[in-house]
Amino acid sequence: PVSVYPNQQIASVTVAARIAHLIRTKHQKGETAVLGLATGVTPIAVYKELVRLHKEEGLSFKNVVTFNLDEYYPMKPDAMQSYVTFMNENLFNHIDIEKQNIHIPDGTLAMDDIASFCLDYERKITELGGLDLQILGIGRTGHIGFNEPGSAPNSGTRLVTLDDLTRRDASRDFGGKENVPTKAITMGIGTIFKAREIILMAWNKKKAPIIKKAVEGEISGDVPATYLQLSEHVEFVLDQDAASDLT
Ligand code: F6R
Repeated sequence: PVSVYPNQQIASVTVAARIAHLIRTKHQKGETAVLGLATGVTPIAVYKELVRLHKEEGLSFKNVVTFNLDEYYPMKPDAMQSYVTFMNENLFNHIDIEKQNIHIPDGTLAMDDIASFCLDYERKITELGGLDLQILGIGRTGHIGFNEPGSAPNSGTRLVTLDDLTRRDASRDFGGKENVPTKAITMGIGTIFKAREIILMAWNKKKAPIIKKAVEGEISGDVPATYLQLSEHVEFVLDQDAASDLT
């Protein structure tokens, strides 16, 4: 289903409330909430609201385990552009999550160690009972995570090559496209698909054309997000601008 909100703030507060509800419900049952998280500008207001719920409304993250979708490769965790830095600054530094419950693909691995790291990432998710909820943004290539055009629907966590458009869109953060890593480690489409609930968020006119393709276009590896049409557990959460090309 597609949900259209008047603006991204209202949409983000709604998504944050769903996450909080999941965490509290699991807590009451003495269970762990397993969250799949995204970086980028899209989820920032969701994380801001989660921080507010923690500080002002007693939401605890003690029973939360997180798996981030992706990280650039190579990337040092303390670099300004790393997704580790992003998550710490926008969420983890401001809540009571246990550090050992945070998982983000490791951008410092030796090439030879990547395959086993990726298998281990999948195994950890499975051992915890799978992702309860996966949050997604969407890139202008139609990527989810860093699953660029050509990604297989059953792909797992792996090293990928970033699309030129993705590197161009990231160039501002890196002071030029030439400084953007050419690779990343990302959860696969198959990894994302196994989540019990998937929420893809998109805001602004800039995302309207790719949202039209993702929601209404032919299902194809050319636009990886179209695979989400095959899942019954997906909700597209949009602001009016991102939804403006939908028929
Ligand atoms: C980030 C990720 C990407 C972004 C997408 C949109 O972890 O996996 O798929 O969600 O590139 O980025 P923004 O939100 O910056 O427009």
